[in-house]
Formats: sequence, structure tokens, C-alpha cells
Amino acid sequence: MSVDVTIPTGNREDEIQIYDLHKSFGDLEVLKGIDLVVHRGEVVCVIGPSGSGKSTLLRCVNLLEQPTKGRIFILNDEITDPDADVDHLRTLMGMVFQSFNLFPHLTALENCSIALTQVLKKSAAEAKAIALENLHKVGLGDRSDSYPLKLSGGQQQRVAIARALSMDPELMLFDEPTSALDPELVGDVLSVMRDLAAGGMTMMVVTHEMAFAREVADRVIFMDGGVIVEQGTPEEVIGNPKEERTRTFLARVLDPTHVHTPDDEMPPTGASAHEKPVVPPVHRPNIFGH
Ligand SMILES: Nc1ncnc2c1ncn2[C@@H]1O[C@H](COP(=O)(O)OP(=O)(O)O)[C@@H](O)[C@H]1O
Ligand SMILES: [Mg+2]
Repeated sequence: MSVDVTIPTGNREDEIQIYDLHKSFGDLEVLKGIDLVVHRGEVVCVIGPSGSGKSTLLRCVNLLEQPTKGRIFILNDEITDPDADVDHLRTLMGMVFQSFNLFPHLTALENCSIALTQVLKKSAAEAKAIALENLHKVGLGDRSDSYPLKLSGGQQQRVAIARALSMDPELMLFDEPTSALDPELVGDVLSVMRDLAAGGMTMMVVTHEMAFAREVADRVIFMDGGVIVEQGTPEEVIGNPKEERTRTFLARVLDPTHVHTPDDEMPPTGASAHEKPVVPPVHRPNIFGH
């Protein structure tokens, strides 16, 4: 980072500002100095091998992880300030994880409305209207009374997106939102995210879906070993990477013969993955024994 940068910039368009972010867990330094500004309406896809610090970066942005060093500003308010109103700043950011974390005892609608009544103190009627509107947005207007267990993984993830949208966030953070889904359910979730991006939402998306990143991202960031190795347009980073480490990573995730293992957390991606299934079918034992 050059020393003449004013921190924060003061520009409302610079929605997320990250300066010299470091994070260690004990002796393990996971983030080694990240500088990043995400602009209003920008879609930034973060790619990189498992363990490179992508989730930690995202979790530092809303202070689910406390940085070891560095400063983070959300709409020019410093969330890393010890006196920050962290709860308020978090309401500006919708977060969607790999695991949906829905309340199993609440319907889709109740999952979306509970924070509206309990945190934002809206009336039950208003909360319901907002929740319904967002369930419609993700294509689940007709499933508002369903409990999570009656919904597919893809539908549950769309409820999780509707829940985040119901808080009317300024920006959305996604951490591998499709990684836990069966391949045939990935498309519907990506399509909701594509619509959000087209609607102008500011988004930071950790993903292994290279085809999605290529199509939707304004900027792709390749992380490895706790640093940003390379960034640029999808065409630059995915289409014509400069760095050897980026090339090695992409060769692996775009390789149609690459089979996902729990070790590398890399589901098949890219156009070839759609033409030729590369994940062996998972045998699901029938719990009723037949
Ligand atoms: N809460 C934690 N405690 C200790 N180590 C952690 C914790 N969270 C993440 N790590 C470690 O930090 C490194 C980066 O993790 P993570 O940010 O999840 O990477 P990625 O999302 O790129 O796979 C990994 O080595 C991981 O084991
Ligand atoms: Mg991760």
C-alpha cells in the first residue's frame, strides 16, 4: 500500500476498505497484509486454494474474526475501531455461508422475518411483507410456509439469501454458497446471485465456480498463502493469468478429470464440468433399511 493513501478515502462509493489486514491463529499467520477496496455495485470474486485465507478474509470484514493488525471500513465507518457499533455495521452486510444455518423449527418465512421483528423491531405484518417479497425474489414465494427440512439444499440456500436480503443490506458477502450443494442444485442459487449482481448489489463472493466468476465478476482476486497474488478482470485473471501460482491453481480447478476430494475442497467447475459429470455418484444409504 502506498503511504499517501488517505484512510479511509471518505468516498461513499468505497463501500469496503481493507488496509494492511493481518490475521494469525496462534503461530499461524493466515492473512499477511491484505489491501482491498470494494466499490459500490462491484462484484468481487475471490478464488484460491483451500487454506489460502479466503474465508478468514470475509469473516474479518464483518468482524466474525478479529484482525491481528490492520483496519477495515464499511461505508467509511471503521469496524475495527474498538468503539465501533459492530452490531449496526453488521446489519449493513448480508452474509451467506456454505452451510445455510436456518432455524429448523421455523418456516422459510419465519427464518426471513425473525431478525426483522427481534433486531430491527419491525411490526409482525411489515416483517412478513418484507420476508415474502424477498422469498419471491429468490423464486420461493410459494414455499414460504415450508420448514427447511422439506426444502432441497438449493432452496435452503436461497432462503438464506432471502433472509440476508430481508435486512436490506448495503452489500453481501458470500462464502462458497454453492459448495455444499448437489451439482444439479447449484444453478438456481447462482442464478439468484446473478440477478442480485445485475440489480447493482455490492458483492464479495468466495467461490470455486469459475464459470460464474468469469461471467458475473467485475474483478477476480486470486489469493494464495494469505496474500492477494493477482487481481484484475475475469478475462485477465482467469483467461490470461500472469502469475505461475494462479496458472497452477486454475489448471487444477478447470481440469475436467479433477475429482473433488475433501482434502482440496474444490468441486468441479467450468463448462466442461457440465458436459461430463466428474463427481462419482454418492451412495446415500436408506435410513429405513430398504
Ligand atoms: N478459527 C481458527 N483457528 C485456527 N486456525 C484457523 C481458524 N480458522 C481458519 N484457520 C486456518 O487458517 C487457514 C486459512 O483458513 P481459511 O480462511 O478457512 O481458508 P480458505 O477459506 O481459503 O480455505 C487454514 O490453515 C485454517 O486451518
Ligand atoms: Mg473457506
